Amino acid sequence: MVKKLYNGVEIPSIGFGTWQLTENVEAVIELALKAGYVHIDTAAIYGNEKEIGNAIRSNGVDRSSLFITSKVWNSDRGYEATLKAFEESLERLQTDYLDLYLIHWPANENRENAKQENADTWRALEELYAKGKVRAIGLSNFLKHHVKDILEIENVKPMVNQIEFHPGYLQGDTVDFCTEHNIVVEAWSPIGSGRLLEDETLRGLAAFYGVSVASLCIQFALQENLVVLPKSTNPVNIHNNLHFERFVIRSEDVDTIKSMPLNGFSGLNPDEITF
Ligand SMILES: NC(=O)c1ccc[n+]([C@@H]2O[C@H](COP(=O)([O-])OP(=O)(O)OC[C@H]3O[C@@H](n4cnc5c(N)ncnc54)[C@H](OP(=O)(O)O)[C@@H]3O)[C@@H](O)[C@H]2O)c1
Repeated sequence: MVKKLYNGVEIPSIGFGTWQLTENVEAVIELALKAGYVHIDTAAIYGNEKEIGNAIRSNGVDRSSLFITSKVWNSDRGYEATLKAFEESLERLQTDYLDLYLIHWPANENRENAKQENADTWRALEELYAKGKVRAIGLSNFLKHHVKDILEIENVKPMVNQIEFHPGYLQGDTVDFCTEHNIVVEAWSPIGSGRLLEDETLRGLAAFYGVSVASLCIQFALQENLVVLPKSTNPVNIHNNLHFERFVIRSEDVDTIKSMPLNGFSGLNPDEITF
């Protein structure tokens, strides 16, 4: 299953998350590749790009069959620093292009010239895109007002915004705004980093459909038209998160999920972060 970005690039709807994957990275990526994941989500700050590159190489996977995303970290924002950070990510991943490159977090009001910093970083991504070094460019953790700022200065509109999205934390304003502007939204922490696994409402619904809470969360994101990025280091879960039997969540159950109180939230508000 793929989604088409507005520039025609196809993005696989389920990607393999790699945040906090710092042990046995090569073995876990090998499991993911063997399970059939072709979309891998990493970032410079995750500290695992090199091992991911090693795993791809040692498994002899054809680069063109993969969709690899990385992100520029906050300390590398700005035009020149972003261009340099991108080359370093390429080197660690042992590839000569990325499929998607994102600004990991917006500079916010905690920083002087936040808008300019975001604009300068975006210029660098536009340049990488124009040079054909990346097939698509986008944002991450940009709230509606941050996305609006980029839309005011862009030459190339972002193709993607990757944000926290899961039952109990839906960020409807940002999702709706991106959708209106044909920006594909990716769901990070679709299972709330595991915090949703014991949620009573979700457990009840999962039992009704005869699926796991994880499958319910992944299906919910897909059904809401998002790309979804589950992460696991467990071989069975890695497999099941990609291959669970597809089902449709009834509209009344979608309503139940959408009216859940805040749950599983990371606590990371892009307007407030200080890192
Ligand atoms: N852009 C950003 O700022 C940002 C921030 C956070 C995350 N992300 C991206 O989003 C990805 C996913 O988010 P996440 O890492 O927070 O985690 P997640 O996918 O929401 O949850 C992972 C947790 O759920 C468990 N799990 C996964 N599948 C399961 C299953 N089928 N049954 C039972 N438990 C299951 C995992 O444990 P096991 O290992 O035991 O399966 C792990 O504890 C990240 O890895 C990263 O790529 C991006």
